[in-house]
Amino acid sequence: MDAVVARMMLLRDGSEHLRLKRVARAVLSPQRIQALEPSMRELAAELLPLDRPGDLDFVAEVAKEFPLRVLGKLLGIDESDLDMVLAGSDAITAIVSGLDHTVDPEIHRRARTLYEYALRLVRERREKSGEDGISALVRAADEEGLDDVDTASNLVMLIASGHQTMPGFLSISMHNALTSQGTSAFEVDRALAQVTPSRFVGRVATADIEVGGCRIRAGDKVLVLLAAANWRSNSSGKGARHLAFGYGRHRCAGAAMAELEGSVMFERMAEAVHAGARLVGTGLEWNGDANLPSLTKLPIRIARSTAPLSDR
Ligand code: HEM
Repeated sequence: MDAVVARMMLLRDGSEHLRLKRVARAVLSPQRIQALEPSMRELAAELLPLDRPGDLDFVAEVAKEFPLRVLGKLLGIDESDLDMVLAGSDAITAIVSGLDHTVDPEIHRRARTLYEYALRLVRERREKSGEDGISALVRAADEEGLDDVDTASNLVMLIASGHQTMPGFLSISMHNALTSQGTSAFEVDRALAQVTPSRFVGRVATADIEVGGCRIRAGDKVLVLLAAANWRSNSSGKGARHLAFGYGRHRCAGAAMAELEGSVMFERMAEAVHAGARLVGTGLEWNGDANLPSLTKLPIRIARSTAPLSDR
């Protein structure tokens, strides 16, 4: 899988990176994202039902499911393939992200299954193009003259980055709302600054530079702590300015989509909190990932009584 990972835009630079980013922008255009809003709302209501009191695991049933299914709609992936896509994307993240680099063959097998699936979709959509995101990706990739390995690798990158950060963002924000902050935890910019779902990014310095009294030499590997920058902006009271999506050329290509997903889902989560949703049991568990922290379990109880605010 290392050859596939090496083709991903996150790890490319200069004009190669720009071509790949243009292709990603064709999929994540403002029009395509905006068109998803009604189905995001439907999905949020389906996954977090307020008229059926009962217990649910917020992480498995909402925080993971919501971004995955939205991504399926954006790209035009069959719902029946989403379990395999999720397993493959978790595997890619285990290979690419954080401080660990897994050598577990089963994880590499799952990642490869996703890559081969992506390659098949790219070829199918070239034969029979439609209005879906993968067709748009293939058209843009063909215009840029990308080969299929580049196109499929970056489709995998889009899939993995499209939902790996959202579960942590949604689950930690829900936990913050239910334990201490109430619905103020659901202001998107503030929550992004506070949670920083992707805590750091890696860079290699291309020139000697001094940052905050620290001398960095060309060639040094640098871990840039976005969470630390956001901590400063939180503590200075300027929470709306944040670096949760990174900065510069590699700034998140899906930022607008993540913001829309956050605001739609947060609205529903706020309704659940207003309607009396609460934590149950002691089932809080963390994934232990230094870069992409997330709860892996968050059991909540939807209250018996009220209809959502929007229905009153
Ligand atoms: C709360 C949610 C999200 C957060 C916090 C987040 C954060 C980030 C960060 C920090 C980077 C920059 C990495 C770097 O500079 O090395 C990044 C890159 C990227 N993100 Fe996101 N992301 C989120 C959601 C999404 C979504 C929903 C998508 C797509 C559907 C997406 C697609 C991408 C892509 C393609 C890149 C690579 C950009 C490049 O290398 O130029 N992200 N993201």
